[in-house]
Amino acid sequence: MSENFSAFLYLTAAVFFILALRGLSSAKTSIKGNVFGIIGMGVAIVAAFAMPKVSSYALTITGIIVGGAIGALVAKKIDMTALPQLVAAFHSLVGLAAVLVAAGAMSAPISFKIGTLGHIMRGSLVEIGLGTAIGAVTFTGSVVAFLKLQGLIGSKPLMLPNRHLINVSLGALILFALVLFVFTEGHFFFWVLASASFALGLLMILPVGGADMPVIVSMLNSYSGWAASGIGFTLNNTLLIVTGALVGASGAILSYIMCKAMNRSIINVIVGGFGNSDAFEDKAGSADEQRSVKQGSPEDAAFVMKNCSSLVIVPGYGMAVAQAQHALREMCNILKNNGVKVRYAIHPVAGRMPGHMNVLLAEANVPYDDVLELEDINRDFPSTDVAFVIGANDVTNPAAKNNPQSPIYGMPILEVEQAKTVFFIKRSMAAGYAGIDNELFFRDNTMMLFGDAKKVTEEIVKALES
Ligand code: TAP
Repeated sequence: MSENFSAFLYLTAAVFFILALRGLSSAKTSIKGNVFGIIGMGVAIVAAFAMPKVSSYALTITGIIVGGAIGALVAKKIDMTALPQLVAAFHSLVGLAAVLVAAGAMSAPISFKIGTLGHIMRGSLVEIGLGTAIGAVTFTGSVVAFLKLQGLIGSKPLMLPNRHLINVSLGALILFALVLFVFTEGHFFFWVLASASFALGLLMILPVGGADMPVIVSMLNSYSGWAASGIGFTLNNTLLIVTGALVGASGAILSYIMCKAMNRSIINVIVGGFGNSDAFEDKAGSADEQRSVKQGSPEDAAFVMKNCSSLVIVPGYGMAVAQAQHALREMCNILKNNGVKVRYAIHPVAGRMPGHMNVLLAEANVPYDDVLELEDINRDFPSTDVAFVIGANDVTNPAAKNNPQSPIYGMPILEVEQAKTVFFIKRSMAAGYAGIDNELFFRDNTMMLFGDAKKVTEEIVKALES
């Protein structure tokens, strides 16, 4: 097949990838988005195979089978709540691949058609250098993110003394080594550039606290996209350049959206450790140990909900942990059949990854039209009879509105307190992700339903049925 036809197929694949991103931007169209992505990747593989320059089909097919099998196994085994660390682990591989491809191109330029040893084209040297820097930062940064999210190292920010000075010095060293590498093609400068970038990736992510980690994963996703784009230039592969840029841009946009929803400055997150998380003192439970809460039973909750006319469900991380979405759907079906108006309120950072709650509710076949975003549901809470908060905490915490010292101050919240009755299902009085007390647990219109979210919901279902 001619190079031109392969190029045409690459363009077709790129269009499918753009359609995939568009589809994935909403829960309703996400399945279509996934299908577009699969078609795009299929076309891209056919185009790559059809290239006249492919020299070993056996090696490529072996790679696809081994890599595909590992990917399928991991995807099948992984829990939904562990997806952020899985994504971080995958990004580290993209980063490492960028560095290895760059090292390969530098050592065997003829194979990459970028010149001969000692006479590599200047433009290619720039690409190799930039791809290495971004790839190395992505690699070590993603490894640290993985270790923190997996709990293999502490998720608390690790604040080295003079860390900003060290980071700026490393940045200067990287720039210096890059310039020398581009003008001399010296392998020594390449390895200085790579080592300094590996170190910068480590030092940038270590000071980031657990609460900001998902934003970092999304940011590393963006970096891995740019690293892939860099590999695309080295390999002279248009599709890799385009898809890398798509991943890079969409990751950056997602990070921005997440920062906005959590009231974090994106610059602070990117440069690492500038946030106020280190200034925050973890006081969860301290002042409130003496205060009492109103505790109810699943039967109490069933009685109140059966007799109400409007109910808003607020799911959070605990629902994901308990996998309570199916029992919840069953409970809502019964209440709907009883004439209760049931809706679900989704906070943009509920759970541990963007769209986490939407995915779980879709898995339980909750109708999309019943699921409302924060800005669409908040005005309805004052006229709502019952807010049923299942495994959510921070996303309802009024400290975000009225306590400037709070680490979540400024984050928009779901205003459940305005409903006539609020049920909180959780196992204890423990704090949520941000590590802070929630004043709502002690309010007169709140009733705590202690227990595992799935178990409690199933008991409510039983009580409703009887
Ligand atoms: P959280 O504030 O983390 O609260 C979850 C609550 O679920 C906990 O208080 C916990 O209390 C309860 N829980 C855990 N396992 C449970 C189980 N099996 N059954 C019942 N309850 C259980 O969650 P949220 O309200 O969804 O807020 C999300 C937090 O994550 C926010 O602080 C947000 O900023 C942060 N975050 C999210 C994202 C994204 S993209 N989603 C990104 C970065 C940060 P018990 O231990 O007492 O049960």
